[in-house]
Amino acid sequence: MANVFTRIGDWVNERAPNMMPAYRKHMTEYYAPKNFNLWYYFGSLAILVLVNQIVTGIFLTMNYKTSAAEAFASVEYIMRDVEWGWLIRYMHSTGASLFFVVVFLHMFRGLMYGSFKKPRELVWILGMLIFLALMAEAFMGYVLPWGNMSFWGAKVIISLFGTIPYIGDSLVQWIMGDYIPADATLNRFFALHVIALPLVLLLLVVLHIAALHEVGSNNPDGVEIKKGPKGNRWDALKPADGIPFHPYYTVKDLFGAGFFLMIAAFIIFFAPTFGGWFLEHDNFIPANNLVTPSHIKPVWYFTPFYAILRMIPSFFGTAVWGVLGMFGAIALLFALPWIDVGQVKSIRYRGTGFKVALGLFVLSFIMLGAVGAGVTAEVIPAWFGNVDVTFWENLFGRAMTLLYFGFFVFLGFYTRLGWEKTKPVPERVTMHD
Ligand code: HEM
Repeated sequence: MANVFTRIGDWVNERAPNMMPAYRKHMTEYYAPKNFNLWYYFGSLAILVLVNQIVTGIFLTMNYKTSAAEAFASVEYIMRDVEWGWLIRYMHSTGASLFFVVVFLHMFRGLMYGSFKKPRELVWILGMLIFLALMAEAFMGYVLPWGNMSFWGAKVIISLFGTIPYIGDSLVQWIMGDYIPADATLNRFFALHVIALPLVLLLLVVLHIAALHEVGSNNPDGVEIKKGPKGNRWDALKPADGIPFHPYYTVKDLFGAGFFLMIAAFIIFFAPTFGGWFLEHDNFIPANNLVTPSHIKPVWYFTPFYAILRMIPSFFGTAVWGVLGMFGAIALLFALPWIDVGQVKSIRYRGTGFKVALGLFVLSFIMLGAVGAGVTAEVIPAWFGNVDVTFWENLFGRAMTLLYFGFFVFLGFYTRLGWEKTKPVPERVTMHD
């Protein structure tokens, strides 16, 4: 049997002599730092979820009907009549939320360990482009079941473009292909959701990993292993602090994938709507342009940005500031490598100011998420009784918006004006039990 495989291998090698070297370059001879921790699971988990979305998406497409008249009923048909259709649909809808859980944790790891800093700025920029594509992909997917929240969500989000001076109104009509979200909107969103954006995502992920493999992975110590001593058990020319990706990290990532799949399976089987957070109650009602849901709000992963949009008031007679604030919140993340110019990468050796700022940034993001999801609108009267909810919600939401933007302003000054007191960075990576 081994002989058969060797012969097939030789046959392929003769015809495609660059294939094996490419495999070696990215797997058995890609030396990754030996001190990866739990935070380094999320890149491979993001790939796993991406594959899940594509595979389950293909099967959903086989029974989904792309028309405003039939879409809602076709999803119900998938749930009730198609063999295993409920499982495929819940794998896809749960996968969408888990995608964002994984990607947010993956991005947070980058912030903690300074993985966005030189020489990995390109890896970060490609990651941010993935994040944008992912948000567009999720938004369009959410419209497809044509539930009432699909309809109103699409209407609110597309109408945001209407705040742009001069071209706004025409742009909104151009995106919708109609005066309200309608058949034309659904059809174009389907095309973008099932083929255009997944292709873009796949391409960006390939570029993201290729860019990473050019410079090599960062690690929890933020030490450049390529600059450290050479020579290890496997190769005298490779970094002493690196180990071959395959088999060492393929095994580690498989363990992570097993653990993650157990959590995913639990949600899929026991709590697929996740109390209305993953699949909203209003989306089990067919789209109706005459009945507005009592609280129009996007799915949880958009709510921090949605809250920024809502919290920035209109002035000079236009609401464009909220839209600018929302896009600005994402643009600042793109620019992070040029805002935070501190030399020390890992949070382990950075100043207290950075640790506090990062903590407050995460807090502001979660709290903005709560504001955007309508949690504060429920909690404020429940905790404080008969108070002016809108006033207090706006006050709180605006404070959190300032905290979010304040993170970037603070980092700019903190790392430029010499305020940061860092600890000495070790020469070699450190290992913790
Ligand atoms: C579909 C989404 C994504 C996939 C499949 C993906 C995949 C990966 C993989 C496999 C790695 C190497 C393993 C690891 O370090 O965990 C990685 C590293 C990295 N990713 Fe992503 N990624 C995605 C989204 C993002 C986003 C949104 C960002 C941030 C804007 C980002 C920033 C980074 C950075 C900075 C690294 C290098 C980390 C280091 O070496 O410490 N990625 N990514």
